[in-house]
Amino acid sequence: MTNENIRLTQTVKGAGCAAKLAPGELARALCGLDLPVDQNLLVGLEQADDAGVYRVSDDIALVQTIDFFPPMVDDPYSFGQIAAANALSDVYAMGGTPKTAMNIVAFPSKTMDISVLRTIIDGGLSKMREAGVVLVGGHTVEDSELKYGLSVTGYIHPNRILTKKNLQTGDCLIITKPLGTGIVSTAIKAGMADQSLIDKVTLAMATLNREAALVMETFSVHACTDITGFGFLGHLAEMVVDSGHGVRIMSELVPMYSEALEWADMGLIPAGTYNNRSFRGSFVDFDSKVPQRVQDLLFDPQTSGGLLIAVPANEAVKLVDALKAKGIEVAAIVGEVVAEPVDRIVVE
Ligand code: CO
Ligand code: CO
Ligand code: CO
Repeated sequence: MTNENIRLTQTVKGAGCAAKLAPGELARALCGLDLPVDQNLLVGLEQADDAGVYRVSDDIALVQTIDFFPPMVDDPYSFGQIAAANALSDVYAMGGTPKTAMNIVAFPSKTMDISVLRTIIDGGLSKMREAGVVLVGGHTVEDSELKYGLSVTGYIHPNRILTKKNLQTGDCLIITKPLGTGIVSTAIKAGMADQSLIDKVTLAMATLNREAALVMETFSVHACTDITGFGFLGHLAEMVVDSGHGVRIMSELVPMYSEALEWADMGLIPAGTYNNRSFRGSFVDFDSKVPQRVQDLLFDPQTSGGLLIAVPANEAVKLVDALKAKGIEVAAIVGEVVAEPVDRIVVE
């Protein structure tokens, strides 16, 4: 079995197909619906956090999440790894421990050999093993567009849930992976990315947020999320809006792929970037010295991005050092939580 000639990223006619609804669309769909009320539902739809949390007992709550999407790389095994790492990430972002998973697959069996699916799932399984997660089942449908992902269930202590909503003035903000995978994926689709960059970015996207989460557990982290489709500023906005605090970002400290910055200059920018900016841009004040390409990267939709962590300033350097000691070398303090301007993000 060889996958040499497969271009997973070019399987769909009509390029630029949206992998997800534009931000805000789902909220409109759910608006006014009679959502469940249950005293054990600790984090539900209304909070729009990384994962749902349901209390089973005083000591244990379930963390549940699902994520699936079309390929952003051509290698099926890597795509499986990335999709699995991405789906598992939401459990880590809550401070939970993933335990079981189910495959969710849409497969174009009329146009693609079933061995490709086997290789994708094999890649996913490698990440589940690394995470200590057991695959318990799954569901597959026929579809013209390949998609793969997982629903994941994990455990968490009900008193140790890390939501997006607990920023405190003086916290430092830390991120754990570079930005720019949306632009790089666009370049891969266009055949513009060279293999060494593809390998580097694939490795980063396939890297679990597990180590980062384990390190984070030993610090007094106030809030956490993972950076995915809404981009760095989109996810940060979820933390800041209605928080009663402001955030100051030092854009020069934010790790970014240099190739992505160059492509941004050329205008190679995915539609998701514009969607993210139009949805959340009104909460962001850019200093005039912040270049356009940096602004674009800060809204770039990420696939399987890193964690965004708010931790008290006196622990921030120690946390970054501890992350680096675990091989997360790009970990960096990129900003701080400030008293004012309330509910706004200032990017310098
Ligand atoms: Co998330
Ligand atoms: Co997610
Ligand atoms: Co969280």
